Amino acid sequence: MRCNGYAHIHTIGCQMNVYDSEKLRAVLHSLGYQQTPHPEQADIIVCNTCAVRHKAEEKAFSFLGRFARNKQKNPHLITVMAGCVAQQEGKRAFQRLPHLDLVLGTQAFSRFNRHIEALKSGQRRIVDTEPSDVIFETQPDSKAFEENPVSKFVTIMQGCDNFCTYCVVPYVRGRERSRSWQSIVREIEVLAENGIREVTLLGQNVNSYGAKENGPSFAGLLKKVADIDNIYRIRFATSHPKDLSEDLIRAMADLDKVCNHLHLPIQSGSNRILKKMNRGYTRELYLSRIDELRAAIPDIGLSTDIIVGFPTETVEEFEDTLALVAQVQFDSIFAFAYSDRSSAPAARFSGGVDETEKMARLNRLLAFQDTITREKNLEMAGQVVQVLVEGISAKQHDGFVKTTPDTRQMTGRSPANKIVHFPSETLVPGDLAEIKIEDAYPHSLWGKPLEQFFQ
Ligand code: 5AD
Ligand code: SF4
Repeated sequence: MRCNGYAHIHTIGCQMNVYDSEKLRAVLHSLGYQQTPHPEQADIIVCNTCAVRHKAEEKAFSFLGRFARNKQKNPHLITVMAGCVAQQEGKRAFQRLPHLDLVLGTQAFSRFNRHIEALKSGQRRIVDTEPSDVIFETQPDSKAFEENPVSKFVTIMQGCDNFCTYCVVPYVRGRERSRSWQSIVREIEVLAENGIREVTLLGQNVNSYGAKENGPSFAGLLKKVADIDNIYRIRFATSHPKDLSEDLIRAMADLDKVCNHLHLPIQSGSNRILKKMNRGYTRELYLSRIDELRAAIPDIGLSTDIIVGFPTETVEEFEDTLALVAQVQFDSIFAFAYSDRSSAPAARFSGGVDETEKMARLNRLLAFQDTITREKNLEMAGQVVQVLVEGISAKQHDGFVKTTPDTRQMTGRSPANKIVHFPSETLVPGDLAEIKIEDAYPHSLWGKPLEQFFQ
C-alpha cells in the first residue's frame, strides 16, 4: 500500500482503550499511514485518553501539549485527542491545546477516517462528540498480529448503566450496549486463524452482556467462544459483584478454556461507603459470592479494585477494607486514591479526605497486599501450572536470569493470571507448557518446564 506518512498512537488507560487504539491504527493503516514508535517522526499523533482519574487526564494534556512546537516545524502535522477525555472536554480541549486538530469522542470512532480526510484538505479544529448507539466494529487486519502474537483483547460491549457515584464512565462512554455474538465470534475466529491463542473479552460489566439485545447471556457467549478452534484460553473483565450469576460461575467451572481467574471489584469493605458509592451490594453479599466461587472453582485466582479515601471515609471504614482484604486473600489488587471527577456525583459530596491521608491509606493497603501476594506466591512452590508462553521475559532484559546468563528466559501466564518466568530454548509464543514452580518474586513466579506439549 502507498505510504502517505507516519502515525503515532499513544494509549492511556484501560484495556478497552488498548483495543480501541488498535481500531484507530487499522483506520490509519487503511488511509496509508504506517505506525512509528517515535512521535517526533509522525505526521499524525493520536492520544487515546482516559478520564477515570485526574492524573490520567493530566497525562493526556501533557502528552499532547508536547507537540505544539512540532506543529511550528511541520504545519501538516495533525494532532488528535481521542476517547474519554475528548468526549468529556469537547471544544474546551482547545483552551489548553490551541494547536489540537481533532477532538474525537468515544462514539465518533466510526467517523475518524472522514475527519482525517477533512483535516488533510485543510479543515482545522474538528470536534465530534456526537452520541451513537452503533458500536464501531472492524475486523482485524494483518498488522494487528505484529505486536502481540498470542493474546488479544476483544471488546464485547460499550458503556455502563450502573452510575457508581465516583465514576465518569457512564457520562463519557454512554449507555450500555452489546455487540452481536456473531460479530464477536467472527472477530475471534479471524484472531485464531492468525495465531492468537488467548482472548480477553472486555466490557464495563460483562455480566449484563446482551441484556438489552435479547441475545445469549454472557455465559452463553462464553460457550460460543469456547467452541472456536485454536483458541486455548478465554479471560474476561470486568464483572460486577451484584450481577455475578450462578450461571456464569457454572460456565467458568465447566468450560475448560475459560481461565480460573476473576477480577471482581469490591471498591470498599464498608457497607456505608458502598452505599454512598451506589454499588448495589453489601460486604456480606460480596463475601458470599467469593465463597460460591471458591466452592465451584477451588483454584480460582481473584483480583479486585479498591478506592481509598472516598468522601467521608473514616479510618475505621478504611480498616474495614483492610479486614476484607485480609479475609478474601486476593491474588492481586488494583488500588486507587479517590479522585474527584466533575461529571460524577461524588465530586459534589462533602467530607473529602485530605490528599496526604488518602496517600497514607493507599500505601498502607498496597503494602498489606504485597505481604499477601508474596505469601500466596511462595505457597505455589512445588506446584505445576500450565503456562501459555507469551515471549521473552522482561527479567531477561534486566539481566536477571536464574540459570546461566546466556539461557533464554521466557514468560507467560498461568490460568489464574500469575506471571511465570522460566528458562527454555525451545518453547515459543503460543505454546502451552507445564511449569514446575520453584521460586517467587514479589509479583511473579519462577519455574522450570516439565515437558512441552502443543494443543
Ligand atoms: N477515583 C479513583 N478511582 C476510580 N476508579 C473509578 N473512578 C475512580 C475515581 N473517581 C477506579 C475503580 C474502578 C477502576 C477502573 O478505577 O476502582 O474499578
Ligand atoms: Fe464505573 Fe460503576 Fe460502571 Fe464500573 S460499574 S464503569 S465503576 S459506573
